[in-house]
Order: sequence, then C-alpha cells, then structure tokens
Amino acid sequence: MSTPRIVILYYSRGGKTQQLADAIASGVEKTGAEALLRTVPTDTDAACSRDLAIVEDDLNQCDALIIGSPTRFGHMASGLQRFFEQHSSAWLKGVLVDKPGAVFTSSSSMHGGQETTLLSMAVPLLHHGMLLVGLPYTEPGLQQTDAGGSPYGASHVEHAAGARITAIEKQLASALGERVARAAARLK
Ligand SMILES: Cc1cc2nc3c(=O)[nH]c(=O)nc-3n(C[C@H](O)[C@H](O)[C@H](O)COP(=O)(O)O)c2cc1C
Repeated sequence: MSTPRIVILYYSRGGKTQQLADAIASGVEKTGAEALLRTVPTDTDAACSRDLAIVEDDLNQCDALIIGSPTRFGHMASGLQRFFEQHSSAWLKGVLVDKPGAVFTSSSSMHGGQETTLLSMAVPLLHHGMLLVGLPYTEPGLQQTDAGGSPYGASHVEHAAGARITAIEKQLASALGERVARAAARLK
C-alpha cells in the first residue's frame, strides 16, 4: 500500500493558523503518512507563502483533506471559501468522496465564533462527500485546555494563549492530524 497523502490546506495572514497547520502535520507524520502543507492566497500579502499554493491535482491525489482558517466574523476567511467555489470541478468529479476530512481555526477572542467557524467549515467538506473527523474527549487536552481545542477541530485563541499556540493546543492539533491520517490509512 502506498503512503497516505494528507493535504493540510490553510489560509493564514498572521501565522497563527499556520502554527496549527504545522502541529497537525507533525501528527500526520507520526503515523508514517505524508503531510502536504498547502495555502490559498491571502487578501493582503504573501505572509504565509512558505508553503506551496494548492492546485487541483492536490485534491485529486490526496487521501484526506484538513482545512484551516482564521475566524473571520464567525466563519472562514473568504480566500478559503473562494478556493472551494473555484474548484467545483473537483466536487462534480467526486474526488474527495469517502475520504476523511477535518477543520481547524484561530481566533482572537474565546467567544468570537470559533465553533461557528469550525462547524461551517465542515459544510463544504460534507458537500464533497468527506467523512468528518473530530477530537473525542478521550483526548485529555480537551478537558485541560484554557485556550483552544474543541471536539469540532483544532484551534487557537490569541487572547487566552498569546501569539504562540499553547502546548495543549499543539498536542490537540497533532492528535487531529494523527486521527485523520490513521483513518485515511484504514480507508485506503
Ligand atoms: C476581518 C477580520 C475578521 C475577524 N473576525 C474575528 C471574529 O469574528 N472573531 C474573533 O475572535 N477574531 C476575529 N478576527 C481575528 C482573527 O481571527 C485572529 O487574529 C486569528 O488568530 C488570525 O489568524 P492568522 O494569524 O492565521 O491570520 C478577525 C480578524 C480579521 C482581520
């Protein structure tokens, strides 16, 4: 069996969502799967141009897709939404059907819409026929966190944690990557 390819697609202007993407990638790699970090263009600059921009072949060839965005007015950034609207051919071809998917976000405030963002980011994945993976409460970090981390996906809260993601946020993001990669390996 070939190594599962897990695409981690994120939008990040200030780098916080990118830190979560890195932690998710480390969890993916723990399982022996390949983590492909990909971005969509940001609205202002190329702050997170470290990783390659996503192309449709990444969707065609992946075994799972994990998407991340800052919370913007309680939902995902328009750049990520635009990506889904511009790649409806992948949806029509069903290239993501029956593959695992998951979501992550970063927000400035604790009650500024993380959960609405995570749940609404899951909606396009469901339209693509993906199988959603979250975080169960068997993850001790979910009980211990005083910042981000949620059953709906990985997250970071700036006002609680500061500019760097906390150890627990990082551990939960890694656990999410690991769960998605293991699910992808089982389904492959
Ligand atoms: C236009 C805009 C809208 C935002 N809306 C929210 C919001 O609804 N709730 C919130 O807590 N933070 C909001 N923020 C703050 C970002 O979610 C937060 O700074 C995030 O950590 C940035 O992630 P990044 O560093 O990956 O770009 C908003 C920021 C911008 C620029």
